[in-house]
Amino acid sequence: FGRQIKLLETVPSTQDELRKLAEEGAEEGTLVIAEQQTKGRGRMGRYWVSPAGKGVWMSLLLRPPVPLPLTPQLTLLAAVALSRAISRIVPLEIGIKWPNDLLVGGKKISGILLESAAEDERLRYVVVGMGISVNLDAEDYPEELLEKAVSLKMAAGAPVNRSELVASILVEFELLYDLFLEQGFAPIRTLWEAHSVTLGHLTTLFTPQEAIEGIPRGLDDMGGLKVEMADGSLRTVYSAEVGVRQE
Ligand code: BTN
Repeated sequence: FGRQIKLLETVPSTQDELRKLAEEGAEEGTLVIAEQQTKGRGRMGRYWVSPAGKGVWMSLLLRPPVPLPLTPQLTLLAAVALSRAISRIVPLEIGIKWPNDLLVGGKKISGILLESAAEDERLRYVVVGMGISVNLDAEDYPEELLEKAVSLKMAAGAPVNRSELVASILVEFELLYDLFLEQGFAPIRTLWEAHSVTLGHLTTLFTPQEAIEGIPRGLDDMGGLKVEMADGSLRTVYSAEVGVRQE
C-alpha cells in the first residue's frame, strides 16, 4: 500500500479526490493525503474538523479481488489496523467503539468512513477514509466537541510525527488486509473483540429503525454486533450509532 501517494495542500475532502482517481483506474493501495480539508465528512453526514497541518486526513483505495458482501467487515478491519498502528507510535491505550471509532480515555481520537462503489451486488472498490486528530490543540475544536474528542498530542502530552504515523498505518493495514484475504474475517474479529470497549457494557444502539438497549457480547461472521437483550435473547445489529452508558 502507498506505492502511489498523492499529497495535497487543501481539498474539500480526500474521499472525493480518491474517488476520482479510482474511477480513472488507480491501483489498489493508492493513497490521497491532504494537509487540510474544508469539507471533511464523517459518518451519518456529519462534519469532520480537519485543520491545516494538525492531523492525518487521508483516504486509501481497496479493490478486493473477490466479490465481497456489503458488510461491516472492512470497516472493523480498518479500526483494528489504525488502533494497532497508532499504539506502535504513541504509548496510549486505544479502545474501539463499535463499529470503528477509536477512543482514548473515552474520547474520540480518530474516525473512519468507508465509501464503496458497487455494481451488481459486487464491490468495485472501497475508499477508506481515515481521520486522526494528531496534533490538534484544544482551541482547534469547536467548544461542544471538547468533551467528546481529544488529539494524540493532548492525550500523550507531546506532539506526534505524522509521517511515522502514516507509514505505520500503511504497514499495519496491508498486513491485516492480506490476512483477511487469506484467512477470512475470523482473525480480524478476534483482534477487534480484544480492542473493543463496547463489549460487556449496557449500551443503547440507535439503528435506522429503532433504539435497542442491551449488552453487546461479540461479533458475528459478517461483522454484525451481537447484542444480548434484557430477556436473554440475542439480536444482531449491522448499522447503528452507539451510546455507551457511563457506569
Ligand atoms: C467519523 O468518525 O465520522 C468518520 C470520520 C472520517 C474522516 C476522514 S478524514 C479523511 C477522509 N476524508 C473525509 O472527508 N472524511 C474522511
